[in-house]
Amino acid sequence: MTQTSRSPRRILITGGAGFIASNLVYHWAEKYPGDRLIVLDALTYAGNRKTLEPLDANSNFRFVQGNICDRPLIESLLREEAIDTVAHLAAESHVDRSILGPGAFVQTNIVGTFTLLDAFRQYWDGAGKPDHFRFLHVSTDEVYGSLNPEDPAFSETTPYAPNSPYSASKAGSDHLARAYFHTYGMPTLITNCSNNYGPFHFPEKLIPLMCINILMGRSLPVYGDGQNVRDWLYVGDHCRALDAVIHQGTPGETYNIGGNNEVKNIDLVHQLCDLMAELAPSLPTPPQSLITFVKDRPGHDRRYAINATKIKTELGWEPAETLETGLRKTVQWYLDNTAWWQPLLSAEYQDYYQQVYASRLVQAG
Ligand code: NAD
Ligand code: TYD
Repeated sequence: MTQTSRSPRRILITGGAGFIASNLVYHWAEKYPGDRLIVLDALTYAGNRKTLEPLDANSNFRFVQGNICDRPLIESLLREEAIDTVAHLAAESHVDRSILGPGAFVQTNIVGTFTLLDAFRQYWDGAGKPDHFRFLHVSTDEVYGSLNPEDPAFSETTPYAPNSPYSASKAGSDHLARAYFHTYGMPTLITNCSNNYGPFHFPEKLIPLMCINILMGRSLPVYGDGQNVRDWLYVGDHCRALDAVIHQGTPGETYNIGGNNEVKNIDLVHQLCDLMAELAPSLPTPPQSLITFVKDRPGHDRRYAINATKIKTELGWEPAETLETGLRKTVQWYLDNTAWWQPLLSAEYQDYYQQVYASRLVQAG
């Protein structure tokens, strides 16, 4: 859809201070400057208000600190801002944290998504069910479970088989979004995307963790035998896909989004070591020597892979970045933005790191 043929939207992006949604906020503000853009974010450990500060001078942008479980707040925001589009990305998102404390995942991912869906339903109903309203629920490929090496990639009809408290809570929220379309006719859309990487990624996830540990001369903890496979997608490509789904997607439909970049964890870590050795001016320790095999994550899914044929054929989306170009951009971003990630290595983060890694480091593979 071209910009000249579209009416301005009034979009609520939840979780906008987090990784993917902050990239979506920048994508949206740049591409659709005439749209009203509201971010709702609770600023948990994963939310960073500073990420969005450059937008504060933009009169079409508003940041609201608040919880998606707070129904009165959501109801008043929807009405006050006359929202017609919700892009719902707020979530507890890290598998290792879901193993340590699953309760927050059930609360935010299931109860929070229900609260948003139900408040939007009431509001959309009261507004006369306008045709152009949309509720995009952003989810993950992890709801489909784990693949064997010879299995075909996940498609939109693959049965759900979540294995971690994180993926189980996301599966629950997907089912609610689906039910709101089938039961009430509410214009929900669901996307299930593979692993993202890129700017503003919180240090606990594999790619930023490895980049930062290399810079600090800290060991690079590879879980298990390092043979687990993930299908990596550059976050900017994900944002373009979400844009396409909001504008061209059919309500009630699910779209799988993936990078067609299946890589074993150990190979990815080697690639990151090589890029760092090439791009970083001086490193305390040769990166490859920091690789350490550690005790595996409980219930660790072996392989994820996405079949993205539907979004390609129906909406014309495909990734622009290869893994090589995307990783290069990402490594350079972490080198250039120390001031963004350094403050995130807080006492709380060190505490988390201890909890997850201290016991794992006893086993080398
Ligand atoms: P993130 O953890 O970086 O950010 C989540 C954001 O949500 C944070 O800003 C946090 O403050 C906010 N938040 C958490 N609980 C909240 C609550 N109760 N109320 C309001 N805000 C709250 O997450 P991410 O990696 O950017 O993931 C965004 C979405 O995309 C999630 O729904 C996730 O399941 C999905 N997803 C992520 C990936 C990935 O590789 N990161 C891949 C596919 C799908
Ligand atoms: P992660 O970034 O946590 O994403 P997800 O678990 O949602 O796929 O992890 C990506 C892969 O990297 C996953 O197979 C687990 C592995 N991993 C490590 O080997 N070491 C680490 O320190 C982390 C954080 C992840």
